Amino acid sequence: MRQAGPNTVQVISDFDMTLTRFAFNGRRCPTCHNILDNSKLISEDCKEKLKDLLNTYYPIEIDSTRTVEDKLPFMVEWWTKAHALLVQQKIKKDLLATVVRESDAMLREGYQFFFDHLKEQNIPLLIFSAGIGDVLEEVIKQAEVFHPNVKVFSNYMDFDETGTLRAFKGELIHTYNKREGALLNTGHFQELHDRHNVLLFGDSIGDLTMADGVQDVENILKIGYLNDKVEERMESYLNSYDIVLVKDETMEVPNAILRHVTGSQ
Ligand code: TMP
Ligand code: MG
Repeated sequence: MRQAGPNTVQVISDFDMTLTRFAFNGRRCPTCHNILDNSKLISEDCKEKLKDLLNTYYPIEIDSTRTVEDKLPFMVEWWTKAHALLVQQKIKKDLLATVVRESDAMLREGYQFFFDHLKEQNIPLLIFSAGIGDVLEEVIKQAEVFHPNVKVFSNYMDFDETGTLRAFKGELIHTYNKREGALLNTGHFQELHDRHNVLLFGDSIGDLTMADGVQDVENILKIGYLNDKVEERMESYLNSYDIVLVKDETMEVPNAILRHVTGSQ
């Protein structure tokens, strides 16, 4: 990749728990969904229901003894139920920025270099997230890293004429259908058809399929953050990612790879 040069490279990254921190000072950091779940926009009753969903489905999401096929229907159930609850809360678009500002959302240490260097090198960054696009965009806007080379595939909210959430747009993206999501967005990969080298960052086994829409991949380097249930999942992560970062809350390794690939060190 280094020999071929930065103009042959594209970066594809997951968002929650990959670009954002998993924990800070021993406390879990929020996903896009959790940013809303923990906010003043949601009633206490609804918070309980969302927490029950998390307690039911998150253990399934990360269970290394179940196959992806086995997990699929549970993920569809989780996202469908959570989105239905969020819609019932009549969330106002103009309050999203405040809610994100007041949240504990944190990008990983070193995120500025990661985003700024990709922009300087004109390397496209696709953020491919099963989270909520509107929330994710607000997080990176507030961090001042939503540069023009950044494109987002995610679940976007649909607001009515009064700015109230009424549904989610398009095909649902959950943790284990990113391949289908990628294949629905062939236009993006077509635009980048001369970039045959891919750096992929994720934290879930489902993230490995994010690059399935890229045409004629020459080299792909897959870097996986292993944040939780480390011992049980180590083997499957080592079998599928090229580099596994264990309980690493920083972007040091991704940034070192970027420096190397772009000849900046
Ligand atoms: P990601 O693809 O950007 O990592 O986003 C997906 C994460 O969102 C996944 O790990 C599960 C999490 N999630 C919640 O925290 N709460 C929810 O209600 C839902 C549906 C997903
Ligand atoms: Mg993730």
